[in-house]
Amino acid sequence: MPHADASLVPDSIKTKSEFWTHVHDQLEILMGGQRHWVSNLSNAASLIYNSLQAFPSNFGDGERSVNWCGESLHFPPLVSTTQSTKSDRPAPSLSSFYLISSLFPQPRFTDASMDPQSQTRASTNMLLGPFSGRPACQWIEVSPRPRGVCGDAFVKRSTVLVLDVLTYPGHIACDGDTKSEIVCPLILRKGGEDIVVGVLDLDCLAIGGFDADDQVGLERIVALIIRSCDW
Ligand code: SME
Repeated sequence: MPHADASLVPDSIKTKSEFWTHVHDQLEILMGGQRHWVSNLSNAASLIYNSLQAFPSNFGDGERSVNWCGESLHFPPLVSTTQSTKSDRPAPSLSSFYLISSLFPQPRFTDASMDPQSQTRASTNMLLGPFSGRPACQWIEVSPRPRGVCGDAFVKRSTVLVLDVLTYPGHIACDGDTKSEIVCPLILRKGGEDIVVGVLDLDCLAIGGFDADDQVGLERIVALIIRSCDW
């Protein structure tokens, strides 16, 4: 099967639970054979994003479709050309990983005039990793003060589900069109210690885009990612 077909969603999949199991199983196949986090997270971000885009037409209608609704398999236009508005057509707007900056390769060539603030940031915060969707902020502070939904999920070591980002104190608005968000920490168990290596962040253009079913599915996926990569 061509790799790109991993993001197709069969018509037989009707529920979110079935959907996330399908995405999990496709990701397990895609990550088979190598353990580098850059490659595996790149395919994970693409798979999640494109599978979400492919899901609405298979999910049917009714209230639950609001989480994933959209009239086509594609990202809705930023400027509506029809009578429908963006809020009529919620869709996942971003699927991204933020990772602790110590995971990133150290520069081989440094510039003596480098901004000292950026060196400080590099030792204490999360940095944008593989993602799919529109451009996003690059740094997210986790210490001394966690920032945003991502920073909170990182320090709490648990998933943060935000139904309406406007009601979340400290939400970082990378994209003014985002209405809801879910962030799952990536927790590595090593030598009896829990190490948070980063977070998976999904944004949606609809209020209430994610719920407990998504949380269960995504937490299973981040557990798979953690054990499938070398960190
Ligand atoms: N909204 C996030 C920041 C990352 S963007 O959504 C990509 C937050 O509040 O942490």
